[in-house]
Amino acid sequence: MSHPAAPYEQYYVHRVMSKIRSGQGHPAIGPTARPLRNESELLEFLLKHGLQPGDLTIDYGCGSLRLAPPLIGFLEPGRYWGMDLAQDFLDLGRAHLSAELAQAKRPRLDVIADDVIQRARAAVPRFIISWHVCSKVPENRFDAYIGNIVAMMTPGATALVHFPEAAEMRKQTGLAWARPRSQLSSAVARANPNIVCKFDAVVPGEVNGIRQSYAILTLAA
Ligand SMILES: C[S@@+](CC[C@H](N)C(=O)[O-])C[C@H]1O[C@@H](n2cnc3c(N)ncnc32)[C@H](O)[C@@H]1O
Repeated sequence: MSHPAAPYEQYYVHRVMSKIRSGQGHPAIGPTARPLRNESELLEFLLKHGLQPGDLTIDYGCGSLRLAPPLIGFLEPGRYWGMDLAQDFLDLGRAHLSAELAQAKRPRLDVIADDVIQRARAAVPRFIISWHVCSKVPENRFDAYIGNIVAMMTPGATALVHFPEAAEMRKQTGLAWARPRSQLSSAVARANPNIVCKFDAVVPGEVNGIRQSYAILTLAA
């Protein structure tokens, strides 16, 4: 209310950091964060799509690295690159990593900005994964979110985007939405019509009309 011109992303960060600073904690970010299923989920889905240790992998919306340690451990040094909205989240992520893992694998962490996206594209990532992020993006910021992911893709790249899927856009909580898969495929087509967009299930079945799905974006080599 007191910052009507501030971007939505700043509001999101403020809400999450207020919970963490007040001691209330947050289920996905900071010291009280816990995986919904298991800590290896990012690594497991990337392996299913052919991840090799030398592949440069972007974790887009990495938060405080709740699901990153097994992936960082698998990749060669310097091949994990986490990006998120706020330095505060990345600092909590650094604190979450063991000193040994950080020293051995030198993960790169950056606050999302146009120059970071362009630098990542120039480094030719093989994979981009965005897990439990899409649901946090409101409709009027959706093209910017998908646009950044697509902008990092060069021929041969694959992006995996988790989202809660519903028949129609539906608010889940104050800061989360489920959406139809057509919203993803349309946004991808607007960003780059050469990208093929397919879908698969993260887990089988649905709860209250919502499936846990992910989009698989590929740009032919
Ligand atoms: C629920 S957390 C998930 C973090 C991490 N991917 C995980 O699964 O532990 C959602 C994350 O998405 C980030 N996020 C929200 N909106 C975003 C946007 N428009 N672009 C990139 N990241 C965003 C948030 O800052 C937050 O770190």
